Amino acid sequence: MEREAARERIQELTDRINEHNYRYYVLARPVISDYEYDMLLEELISLEKAFPGLRDKNSPSQRVGGEVTRKFPTVKHTYPMLSLSNTYSKEEVMAFDRRIKKALGNSYEYVCELKYDGVAISLTYENGSLARAATRGDGVQGDEITSNIRTIRSIPLKLRNKFPASFEVRGEVYMPHKSFLQLNDQKERKGETGFANPRNAAAGSLKLQDSSLVAKRNLDCFMYGVYGDNLPFQTHWDSLQALKEYGFKVSADIKKCADIDAVFHFIAQGEERRTTLPFDIDGVVIKVNKYSQQEALGYTSKFPRWAIAYKYKAERAITRLLDVAFQVGRTGAVTPVAILEPVPVAGTTVKRASLYNEDRMADHDLHQNDIVFVEKGGDIIPKIVDVDASQRIATAKRIHFASRCPECNTPLQKEPDGSVHYCPNTMNCPPQIQGKIEHFISRRAMDIDSLGQGKTEMLLVKNKISNIADLYDLTYDDLIGLEKTFVDPQGKKERKIRFRDKTVRNILSAIENSKKVPFERVLYALGIRHLGETMAKKLAQHFENIDRLKEASEEELVAVDEVGEKMANSIHTYFNNPGNAHILNRLKDAGLSFSVEKDEKQGDDGALANKSFVVSGVFEKYSRDQIKGLIEKHGGEIKSAISSKTDYLVAGDKMGPEKRKKAESLNVPIINENDLENLVKE
Ligand code: IVH
Repeated sequence: MEREAARERIQELTDRINEHNYRYYVLARPVISDYEYDMLLEELISLEKAFPGLRDKNSPSQRVGGEVTRKFPTVKHTYPMLSLSNTYSKEEVMAFDRRIKKALGNSYEYVCELKYDGVAISLTYENGSLARAATRGDGVQGDEITSNIRTIRSIPLKLRNKFPASFEVRGEVYMPHKSFLQLNDQKERKGETGFANPRNAAAGSLKLQDSSLVAKRNLDCFMYGVYGDNLPFQTHWDSLQALKEYGFKVSADIKKCADIDAVFHFIAQGEERRTTLPFDIDGVVIKVNKYSQQEALGYTSKFPRWAIAYKYKAERAITRLLDVAFQVGRTGAVTPVAILEPVPVAGTTVKRASLYNEDRMADHDLHQNDIVFVEKGGDIIPKIVDVDASQRIATAKRIHFASRCPECNTPLQKEPDGSVHYCPNTMNCPPQIQGKIEHFISRRAMDIDSLGQGKTEMLLVKNKISNIADLYDLTYDDLIGLEKTFVDPQGKKERKIRFRDKTVRNILSAIENSKKVPFERVLYALGIRHLGETMAKKLAQHFENIDRLKEASEEELVAVDEVGEKMANSIHTYFNNPGNAHILNRLKDAGLSFSVEKDEKQGDDGALANKSFVVSGVFEKYSRDQIKGLIEKHGGEIKSAISSKTDYLVAGDKMGPEKRKKAESLNVPIINENDLENLVKE
């Protein structure tokens, strides 16, 4: 095809695909079959391949992603991205209305919208084309994530109808429940931990460096605001109608409300709608409609005075307690779990709820067949919050904490402080064996990633391994041809795992590579009770090798910063167990690293040397672990609690008010992630 003809055909295909995208993803009213759509897209992709110069950055072919961004550039927002003042109290909503009335008299109206629970984004459009997309960041500047945003099908890359030449649109990217469940299911099957809730999943997805992975996450986006000079509308309501005209997805659950009674009606309706919506909302946003009135009301340093968010309390449901199961974790800790008659709560069906420990269980005084209230808070794991004892029949038996391990029948023991029960049969209790191996191979420990959950389970069942040291004796012949069919607990899905040549080679090379893992991670990988990553690092730095750690007295251990009696005790218990001593010797013989390498010891000449930090909250640019990594890389030290010795509190979003108060009372400077970046800038 000639270049000119190709250009025309590309334009035609682009327009048609954009139109079908809009009909499918924004209006949810497709007019062609998936097959016909795929044919158009395929033709476009092959034409763009033949004429690479004709491919536009905003071509619909870019929706599948492919661009990899190492570090997202920081961009300054033209209009700051403020947040909203939040309340759980209807009284405060009334007080908000009184303030508005006082300032504006009687002639005003509100627009009510749902408060979508996702990630705020800002999109800049130039001449009808998506020019830039950014996260909120600290409100002043955020990360430029345009290539990731392009993969969200309901976000137009080219606008429709008549639009302003240049403007910004704000909205919330979210992950629908269906995509969230699919994603966590996939993660689980790969032996990875799922996201705690759809909001975290959306935030995590937008931070992925490879946009083709983002494209597979099925994110969606509702728009809720427009910013720009000389906009062709005077009210918020009209701006939302205009956004729809331009091709954006705007929720149908928006309402003009003439007074506060209408607002409360919307709030009540929203709470009902919430149970059936296919995505999470956490409240309702109430905004003064007229721009001129918004301007008159103005802003505080953080919030607009013309809007407020009313947040819903965690969703609750009533159901029946069928049983209490006792789960044994990798360290032997036994957790009670309520088995419930399935009940829908906030978009998912709840069948189990955490009961935490014996004390919490005793607080509820659970009896067989009790009617219980379950609540889903910020996390996806629901909890029992109350029991309706009035409905209990007189003969119902009280449910006691197990006295023996449900897996191996060993009498349970209690931690010295009485908080946790555990099974002391660390060497032979099946879930402990499996849990220890899974922890050992996990990414943050030995990172033997080619051995996922299903595979370790098979090696255990086939008696190829029974502890972590056995991994280093595995040979090609042990593994090749092994196979097993797994049936999921509901007995519906079947999955076959078979070790072929490539799988076996990958596993063996990952095991071999793990010998290079530094001591601090080996120490963490051993799975000593209470010894998390941070403390493993500290102990490795302090004692430098495993023998010195093993010989350390309880006093010497407790003298290390942040080591308490509980941890000292569990370290001793671990080393005094002859089974563990044997495993350690075998791991040493296999060549694992049991002492710090010279350059692993942290120098005290970094930009943050001798400075101590507490990190709290949720960050925009980095994960909390990345923040900690950054501090440690520059010689700073991480502490879990604020004291007068703390040099900085690095605060993200959603940090508890207590931490802030404490830092303020001790005059500890509170900084954000950008300030931290500045501290370590060379
Ligand atoms: S308006 C200046 N409308 O809530 C007002 N925000 O705490 C800007 N959000 O960061 C926000 N749904 O991520 C607005 N319908 C809605 C919203 C909404 C969710 C989020 C948004 C914002 C946070 C404010």
